[in-house]
Amino acid sequence: MSQHEITLTVNGSHERVTIPSNMTLLTMLREVLVLTGTKNGCAAGECGACTVLLNGEPVNSCMMLAVEADGANIVTVEGLARDGTLDKIQQKFVELTGVQCGFCTPGMLISARALLDRNPHPSEAEIQDALRGNLCRCTGYTRIVQAVQEAI
Ligand code: FES
Ligand code: FES
Repeated sequence: MSQHEITLTVNGSHERVTIPSNMTLLTMLREVLVLTGTKNGCAAGECGACTVLLNGEPVNSCMMLAVEADGANIVTVEGLARDGTLDKIQQKFVELTGVQCGFCTPGMLISARALLDRNPHPSEAEIQDALRGNLCRCTGYTRIVQAVQEAI
C-alpha cells in the first residue's frame, strides 16, 4: 500500500502524518493521532458516531479517506472544550442527562455545534433535522434535543 504524507490542523494543532492511501479519516484520528473521542459505530456512514467537523461542516469520518483531508481544518469532540471548560452544549448534555452509554455523544455534540455555529437560534424542528444523521440507541432523543435547546 502506498504511503502519503499529509498536513492538516486538528483541534488547532498542526499535524503532519504519513498514512496508507486506504486509511480512513476516522482510523487516522483514532489510531495515528490517538484522538479516541471520535467513535467507530457502523463504519458504513449510517450512525454518525464518527462525526467530525471538516472545515466547519459535519462529516462522517468513516466515509472519508485521510488523504482527502490534506490541508483541512478538523475539529473533533476533544476540540470542543477550551482551556478545561466544556462547550455549553457539552455542559447541557451532562446537566440534562442527554448521555447514557455515551457512544453516540461525540458525534451528537459535533453535529449540534455545527448547527449552532451556522444557526444560533434553531427551532426544535431544525435541531431534530441537524441530528438526523446521529443515531442513539439509549436516550430516546428527547433529552438530547432539550440539551441543544438549552445551549442556545
Ligand atoms: S461510524 Fe461512521 S457513520 Fe457510523
Ligand atoms: S447514549 Fe448510548 S448510543 Fe446514545
